[in-house]
Amino acid sequence: MKNRYIADIRPGEDITSFFLVKSIALKVGSNKKTYLDLLLGDNSGEINGKKWDIADNEIAGLQRIKENSILKIRALVTEWNGMKQLRIMRIRLTGAEDHIDMADFIKAAPEDPQEMYDYIYGKAAAFADEELRSLCTTILQRRKDQLMYYPAAQKNHHAEMAGLLYHEKRMLMMAERACQVYTNLNPDLLMAGVILHDIEKIDEIESNELGISPGYSFEGKMLGHLVLGVREIEKISNELGISHEKAVLIEHMMLTHHYEPEYGSPKKPLFPEAEMLHYLDMIDAKMFDMQEVLEKTEPGKFSERVWTLDNRTLYRIGEDKDD
Ligand SMILES: [Fe+2]
Ligand SMILES: [Fe+2]
Repeated sequence: MKNRYIADIRPGEDITSFFLVKSIALKVGSNKKTYLDLLLGDNSGEINGKKWDIADNEIAGLQRIKENSILKIRALVTEWNGMKQLRIMRIRLTGAEDHIDMADFIKAAPEDPQEMYDYIYGKAAAFADEELRSLCTTILQRRKDQLMYYPAAQKNHHAEMAGLLYHEKRMLMMAERACQVYTNLNPDLLMAGVILHDIEKIDEIESNELGISPGYSFEGKMLGHLVLGVREIEKISNELGISHEKAVLIEHMMLTHHYEPEYGSPKKPLFPEAEMLHYLDMIDAKMFDMQEVLEKTEPGKFSERVWTLDNRTLYRIGEDKDD
């Protein structure tokens, strides 16, 4: 039985619980001693764990531990650089006798994947623009199986089962509202950009069917989802007979949605729908990261530092006191 969750443990505690291995490496420290470096997870978050001073006769056993295995660990919760960490004292692989329930370990988007897919597909199928409708519905159909579980990232925002669908769905809801306010925007174009902008994350990052990503693919490392996206749109547009201009508009939205060259965009947006796409993407990523860290923070307290939010510590507003 899993008794302790990463979000709830506090520095100074001595805990025994089960964790999923997200990454594992045996390393040699500056003191020439071998140590085990683990990234551990459960459905409440992730934590780094270290087991120091590994003896030679322990190494063979530790090498049997692979990513995605479940470990039983006894550890002291410490703090390093404002982040919780585990100093591991005892560690072992689990078996059937431990009655592991995988739901304790997998982070999943809070909505049903099929319902999110139907929502997104329904919007695409209702586009007045025939070309964008055929482009989006075709790609959604072809990617459906993977969308059901794909995370939107290896870590950071939406690194969870069906996180990519959740990211698209919430952006789509915001896109519709943005078009009501900024009536110069073409809703079909903006919504097509939202649906397609990260679709090549499916080829960029690897994922098992639990939405756990071991890392980036060869093409993902070499090209990234922006360039992979442009390539995919070029190919499918030719196949479907989409006009050259429309294909280039979508390709431009793919290419510019990260906005800055240091985040992978070689050009900045050159029309309002592309500009808005970038901001909707930012809003969803930031809101996700803030919500996630605040869920792990007690009311009236500051959070740990969040790397994706410029190392800020966020404040969780305390409960209302009526006095
Ligand atoms: Fe992206
Ligand atoms: Fe995105």
